[in-house]
Amino acid sequence: YQKKKAYRKRLHGLMRELAVYYNHTLKGEEGREALAYMKRRGAAAQIMPFGLGYAKNSFDDALRFLKARGYTVKEMLDAGVVKQKDGRVYDVFRNRVMFPIQNVFGDVIGFGGRVMDDGIPKYLNSGETVIFNKRYNLYALNTVKKRRNLKSILLVEGYMDVVALAAAGIATAVASLGTSLTKEQARLLKRYTEKVYLCYDGDDAGLNAALRGVDILEKEGLQVFVIVLPDKMDPDEFVKKYSADAFYALAKKAPAATNFRLFMLKRGFDMENPDEVVQYGTKAVELIRGLKNELEKERYIKFLSKETGISVESLFSQMGKGKEEKGYILPVKESNLIKKEAGEEAR
Ligand code: GTP
Ligand code: MN
Ligand code: MN
Ligand code: MN
Ligand code: MN
Repeated sequence: YQKKKAYRKRLHGLMRELAVYYNHTLKGEEGREALAYMKRRGAAAQIMPFGLGYAKNSFDDALRFLKARGYTVKEMLDAGVVKQKDGRVYDVFRNRVMFPIQNVFGDVIGFGGRVMDDGIPKYLNSGETVIFNKRYNLYALNTVKKRRNLKSILLVEGYMDVVALAAAGIATAVASLGTSLTKEQARLLKRYTEKVYLCYDGDDAGLNAALRGVDILEKEGLQVFVIVLPDKMDPDEFVKKYSADAFYALAKKAPAATNFRLFMLKRGFDMENPDEVVQYGTKAVELIRGLKNELEKERYIKFLSKETGISVESLFSQMGKGKEEKGYILPVKESNLIKKEAGEEAR
């Protein structure tokens, strides 16, 4: 175990040295194009705060750098920064703007790298390694968690969103690492905050991912609000087109989890059509029935009544119907339970 720990430390050292090297490269002669790219994106001032870098367009520049620093090819392979094919070892990241990924202890554990044109893949992320487990980490949480009076954390999709928000003066954003949010990441957030603002891209993919994210965050006991961006924008595009203040204004009226679920449900119905309004109302009642707090139920029934024009009385009556149905199902579950207990006794 001690040996494993020492090896992980060694790989952290390798990753840090490489991150610093990429960062120097970005600021040097060979990083001119990459620097211009970051300037174009309005993020040049974020190069130092985020330790951004540039991986040269070279077959083995990082490999040679790390070799000179005393690291073995085995260590580089284990850190996921080089690959081996037909006996040849080469750099994973080439001609990309580099985003070092740190764990909450500040160790560099992985990289995300972006092309500077419309090449594919747009982002190349470190694969899983002995020091990099995506599901347990969040980009930029290491810096966000250090902020004093942290009242909430903003969860976004991309590295560039985090960086662009910081450039606009909003420095509480973290990003999941190119995968959908995990419960481990939600638990990690819970260590530093009670409240999460979810702000994924405003396209269908982002909104649907937010719906799943809300469930995961709520399960870990977090209070969740969802910032819905207009015109399929992402946070980067939004703060650039409008402003940080406009973003705060959206955050202020961001729907809580239940409101967001209702909002997403409503999208599937034509609210000009009375029949579809009824269908929406019926589905929405089912959603509200699932809430644990009776006061909340009343609040959302009132909200739904305003939305649909259906009376509070009718909505409550419809919600009551479901209860009876549920009650009818319950004895079946109970009998299952009894069976199981009987089985246990037999053992
Ligand atoms: P920009 O185009 O630089 O503004 O990035 P973006 O964050 O807006 O990109 P997008 O919304 O498409 O993706 C969000 C996040 O998903 C990125 O930050 C990456 O972590 C991940 N991602 C995007 N494209 C790719 C890809 O081609 N491959 C992989 N592995 N991940 C990607
Ligand atoms: Mn994409
Ligand atoms: Mn997206
Ligand atoms: Mn995006
Ligand atoms: Mn973007």
